[in-house]
Amino acid sequence: MPSQITLRPSGHVFHAQDGETVLEAALREGYRLPYGCRNGTCGSCKGKVAAGVVDHGKSQDTALNASERAAGMALFCQAQPRSDLIIECREIGAVKDIPVKTLPCRVQSLELVAPDVMRIRLRLPASERLQFLAGQYIDILLRNGTRRSLSLANPPHDDGLLELHLRNYGGPFSTHVFTQMKEKDILRFEGPLGTFYLREDSIKPAVLIAGGTGFAPIKSIIEHAIHHKIKRPLLLYRGARHTADLYLNELTEAWQRDHGITYVPVLSDATAEEAWSGRSGLVHEAVIADLPDLSGHEVYACGAPAMIDAARRDFIGHCSLPEAAFYADAFTPAIP
Ligand code: FES
Repeated sequence: MPSQITLRPSGHVFHAQDGETVLEAALREGYRLPYGCRNGTCGSCKGKVAAGVVDHGKSQDTALNASERAAGMALFCQAQPRSDLIIECREIGAVKDIPVKTLPCRVQSLELVAPDVMRIRLRLPASERLQFLAGQYIDILLRNGTRRSLSLANPPHDDGLLELHLRNYGGPFSTHVFTQMKEKDILRFEGPLGTFYLREDSIKPAVLIAGGTGFAPIKSIIEHAIHHKIKRPLLLYRGARHTADLYLNELTEAWQRDHGITYVPVLSDATAEEAWSGRSGLVHEAVIADLPDLSGHEVYACGAPAMIDAARRDFIGHCSLPEAAFYADAFTPAIP
């Protein structure tokens, strides 16, 4: 029988199914409680059980000692309700609430999803998980002391592997990835970083604009919204040069077919041989053509700086988009 769990101080209420931990139930129902390892060793998820009974599962003594247990504390990544509960735990409301970590990781897989785009999956050490908001990025820490920022493409709930999309611009890191990197290589990164994430307190329709590999954080946001059954309308405008650049296009079409997400791919340089019958031109101009009044929308845009600048200027200047409703993550390729 499901247990009802009431969160203090927010008063939010959610339900845990049989066999679920408090943390699993909270995340499934869209409440962001803090966590780190998710295996009972780090203590990041510790909070108080103010009323009710839990089974502490595999909570390690190093993370939750006997006196803490006696005082009613629990590790919510391990604690399974044995009755209805009232728990005291802070909720993650913003980026500042999430710890930024420096972690090693192992390359799990490398998959060429377009002629010049690599999908990289990274595995963290068994004792670590990365908590982040959909849309944030990590910095890969390179041996020469420089960093390469890459957005997380997996949604936060699906955190077994971290997913990155890297375009080969010919910079040192992308050249290394495309020519030398192999599975099981070790990397280090810092994250999560950035303030580009879906504002979930809004019910306004969200226009999501993805240019090139700017698709990565938009994918994370959309998969997060689908998982949490977020009801606000989502409109994905995807800009690319050629049809081959619309990587993972089957996925976007499935979002449209199965979840009612509007999907508008826009090509800027399609050739006659491509026989492209869809929208052409600049992706932000396609948005303006469809939505000349953006006063009731939010916009989330990720892509090249020129695309972001033009979108910000024209949406605010000509489409009545409030300045505070434009969220962007511009990337600059590493060029030697
Ligand atoms: S998340 Fe590390 S102990 Fe629960």
